[in-house]
Amino acid sequence: MKSTASAPGKIILFGEHFVVHGTRAILAAIDKRVTVTSSFTDNNTIRVNSELGMLEIPISSSYEVKSEFKPFVYLANKMISSNQSVNGLEITIDSDIPIGVGLGSSSACCVAATASISGLFKELSSEEILNLSIEAEKTIFPDTSGADCTVCTYGGKIVYPSIEKIGNTFDLNLLIANSMIPHSTKRSVEKVNKFKENDEERFSQLCDLENGLIDEVIYAMKANDVPTGFENTNRSLHNSFQEKEKDGREHFLGKKMSENQKYLEEIQVSNNTLRDMISSLNEISLGSKITGAGDGGCIIALVKDENMDKVSALLGKDKECFSAKIDTKGVVRV
Ligand code: PMV
Repeated sequence: MKSTASAPGKIILFGEHFVVHGTRAILAAIDKRVTVTSSFTDNNTIRVNSELGMLEIPISSSYEVKSEFKPFVYLANKMISSNQSVNGLEITIDSDIPIGVGLGSSSACCVAATASISGLFKELSSEEILNLSIEAEKTIFPDTSGADCTVCTYGGKIVYPSIEKIGNTFDLNLLIANSMIPHSTKRSVEKVNKFKENDEERFSQLCDLENGLIDEVIYAMKANDVPTGFENTNRSLHNSFQEKEKDGREHFLGKKMSENQKYLEEIQVSNNTLRDMISSLNEISLGSKITGAGDGGCIIALVKDENMDKVSALLGKDKECFSAKIDTKGVVRV
């Protein structure tokens, strides 16, 4: 018996890092996926096959495994221990999400693996898949905000910590550009913790600024989705958005992305390569920022369709770039 599930990668449009400290964040699932296939075996082992290598260990072993295998071993052991009749599991991961560059590869793996392995035993609800996948992700990154797994589970554009989908009527022309520098989310998050310890007051101001920025963005993104009457409940935001609307909604969101980038620069998760990429795109982008933990990884930029063909010349051949389509499905059993 086989069970296959797939989950999308993601980008963080606004709010990375600050979300670990309690602010909201806006995320979108993207059309790059990881597919996980699980099956029973008679080997009394857990076997994991992925492009990062192969692992085979006895069931319930307390073997120290490489960090990238930990979530799979955790999930397999957890599900086997509640189903004594199972002799072994084989888990195969097939991914088109670049690894370690902030596009949600590890969260999508956790979500797809949870749906795939659990599918051998019983059908779980989306909420159960999410909770279990966050537990699995915590085996590699105990401080995770849970935002990545949430958007990989539900798809679309969401405001975390809710799972409310926003901006469904609004398509963004988003470019993703990979600095090709792998990063460690854990290390970047620790660095931000240090920044906070050293200057609690400024960090708290930055969290307030980020929350305010996200309020404005939610309002702008929801403008088409919003039932009439909403504007009366939030007059000042409405006025501020109407003003900006002259510029066009994309210009407004682009500006907000660049503003968010300033906060990320201040908490020191940027570097020269990322700054160079952002400034190379300045002449054609409406706004750009790091997406994910930073210190490498990817940037996102709002670029008008007609300028997309100028991107690779501006960034240089050594950077990988593609335009992101929003995934609306989230995790699916295949
Ligand atoms: O692992 P990445 O690069 O997708 O970054 C995760 C986003 C953070 O806000 C930095 C951490 C978190 O758990 O939300």
